[in-house]
Amino acid sequence: MGNLFCCKGRTALVTGGSRGLGFQAASALADAGATVIMNGRDQSALDGAANAIRKRGGSVEILPGDLTRSARVVIEQGIGFTGSLDILVHAAATRDRRGTSELSEDAFRNLVDTNLNCAYDLARAALPHLAHSSSGRLIFVSSIAARLARSGDPAYAASKAGLSALTRALAVEHGNGQLTVNSIEPGFFATETNEKLAHDPGIQSFIDMRVPSKRWGRPEEIASAVLFLASPASSYVNGTSLTVDGGLSAQM
Ligand SMILES: NC(=O)c1ccc[n+]([C@@H]2O[C@H](COP(=O)([O-])OP(=O)(O)OC[C@H]3O[C@@H](n4cnc5c(N)ncnc54)[C@H](OP(=O)(O)O)[C@@H]3O)[C@@H](O)[C@H]2O)c1
Repeated sequence: MGNLFCCKGRTALVTGGSRGLGFQAASALADAGATVIMNGRDQSALDGAANAIRKRGGSVEILPGDLTRSARVVIEQGIGFTGSLDILVHAAATRDRRGTSELSEDAFRNLVDTNLNCAYDLARAALPHLAHSSSGRLIFVSSIAARLARSGDPAYAASKAGLSALTRALAVEHGNGQLTVNSIEPGFFATETNEKLAHDPGIQSFIDMRVPSKRWGRPEEIASAVLFLASPASSYVNGTSLTVDGGLSAQM
């Protein structure tokens, strides 16, 4: 059967690759043999992340750029590295934990622009190239916030619900057997961005009570989900959202 998780000879573009879950996705794909192109806005953060992967023998390039200004350009330049694109992982996102009384209409729109509109722009530019691959993979990193809301987080929840819906819509339209479109819905992960929250006793007691695994996800625990959806192992998985949340959303 060969190695179903092998990504040798394939090119992957990972947005949000400079840190957190995007970095874990990029590392996993590079470890599996893919040439990985990482996007984010901060060039020095991308350099640091790329060097960490290169030290392990991975093949990686960096592509700095703000997706809200240039999603299509990021895809076009990404393809310039190897001449093809087999896997797109869109992990870049932003968050604004303000409730409706403080969150302005513009702030809502800006967040949806990064988290959802950019996903559409990236997908639209990438899909014709992914369709040329023998196993094209489009993967959005959504969130359990797509289905479960916490008070004071309306823009993020709306953007991620849109992203999970976009997954299904694009899978139905483009998922023709060789190309698949799926998303991952992580729960609470202790990434750099959540460092403050991870030390908040209130959040910790919520996690103890609500997450059957009774702990935060470790960032590297997203890697196997990404690798599964990116590799030939998931050839008949299309239009789904893979939840990785320690059981949080299964509990009543
Ligand atoms: N951590 C969690 O618990 C959790 C839970 C559920 C879902 N998720 C989702 O998982 C993904 C990664 O989460 P994370 O915690 O690892 O996030 P993070 O640490 O905040 O990383 C976000 C990444 O996106 C990039 N980015 C943000 N805006 C961008 C833009 N306009 N253009 C290009 N790149 C941009 C950032 O790089 P620059 O700042 O340098 O641009 C960074 O690499 C996100 O989609 C998030 O919504 C995370």
